[in-house]
Amino acid sequence: MSLGKHIILSTGAKLPQIGLGTWLSKPREVEHAVEYAVRNGYRHLDLAMIYENQHEVGAALKKVIPSVVKREDLFMTSKLWNSAHQPAETEKELDETLKQLGTEYLDLYLIHWPIAFPPGNGLNPPHATKAGETAIDTETSLVDTWKAMIALPKSKVKAIGVSNFTVEQLKGIIGATGVVPAVNQIEAHPLLPQDELVAYCKSQNIHITAYSPLGNNLIGKPKLTENPIVEEVAKKLNATTAQVLVGWGAHRGYSVIPKSVQEERIISNFKQVELSQEDYEKISAIGHGNYTRFNIPFTYKPKWDVNIFDEPVEKQAAFKVKIQ
Ligand SMILES: NC(=O)c1ccc[n+]([C@@H]2O[C@H](COP(=O)([O-])OP(=O)(O)OC[C@H]3O[C@@H](n4cnc5c(N)ncnc54)[C@H](OP(=O)(O)O)[C@@H]3O)[C@@H](O)[C@H]2O)c1
Repeated sequence: MSLGKHIILSTGAKLPQIGLGTWLSKPREVEHAVEYAVRNGYRHLDLAMIYENQHEVGAALKKVIPSVVKREDLFMTSKLWNSAHQPAETEKELDETLKQLGTEYLDLYLIHWPIAFPPGNGLNPPHATKAGETAIDTETSLVDTWKAMIALPKSKVKAIGVSNFTVEQLKGIIGATGVVPAVNQIEAHPLLPQDELVAYCKSQNIHITAYSPLGNNLIGKPKLTENPIVEEVAKKLNATTAQVLVGWGAHRGYSVIPKSVQEERIISNFKQVELSQEDYEKISAIGHGNYTRFNIPFTYKPKWDVNIFDEPVEKQAAFKVKIQ
């Protein structure tokens, strides 16, 4: 059984290039998906407190460790949720994640979003006065949280990184601490190439993990997996459209974490298909004039009233990200 290619992170750790995403995997689906994925070669799992399914992932892990894999052969990423950005909360939430997963350590722990919520009132605390909005903590800065991440015991987290961070936000935390995140996990697919951010991350040796690589469609656009150009390239390569999209991210050097709870897709998404430069360019061209970011918290319901990416729709937000 092939375990696929690896990326070497700035920490020296080996990150399997294709991992299993677990967001929106429904109860009772994710346990089987994780067990099935590990039995079929996946060694990289993408997890998070906010997915509210880590206890099920933990149940799956019990079925495969140590009978199928040793713990040290798996690469587990999880993410600090917004309501634990306050330095007094950070390690407590990490401990809860470790308990849910039934593991002593994570291979990678990310700040999930560059925005803090007040602690102690659930994962999505409601705004006290603005109905339909999420409460925002405007005091805790990214630098405060990054320092708390740096201070976490190495016995509990082997590497730290961030997710959904822009160049400006990365520069802010690196400038204040001198500590460079190992990874920035970002939305990345042919409609959102983010060339400037990718180039900056490369210059700092920050590895990029591509989320929503199949363009998980939260806003009702035609599916990338059904795009005629992706279909054409897939047909030529005798591959699936998802394999072509994963291959596009791999061609750019990313690790890629497609989510599926379906056995056939879990298997086929993991089979690495290499794109020629010509096919890569053909797929990249889909994005020209068709720039799309699917995941913008300002448009969530309940809304986060904050400008994270400086997308046009976010310009009316009441808050900006507090970097320092
Ligand atoms: N850091 C962050 O803020 C963040 C944000 C979003 C996502 N993520 C991570 O990235 C992972 C992947 O992103 P995502 O879940 O948003 O989207 P995605 O992986 O791009 O797409 C998932 C969707 O595609 C379907 N799918 C899977 N394989 C397929 C195939 N071979 N052909 C056609 N459709 C297929 C899945 O349905 P089935 O399950 O029914 O197959 C699901 O509806 C997440 O699960 C999560 O771990 C992180």
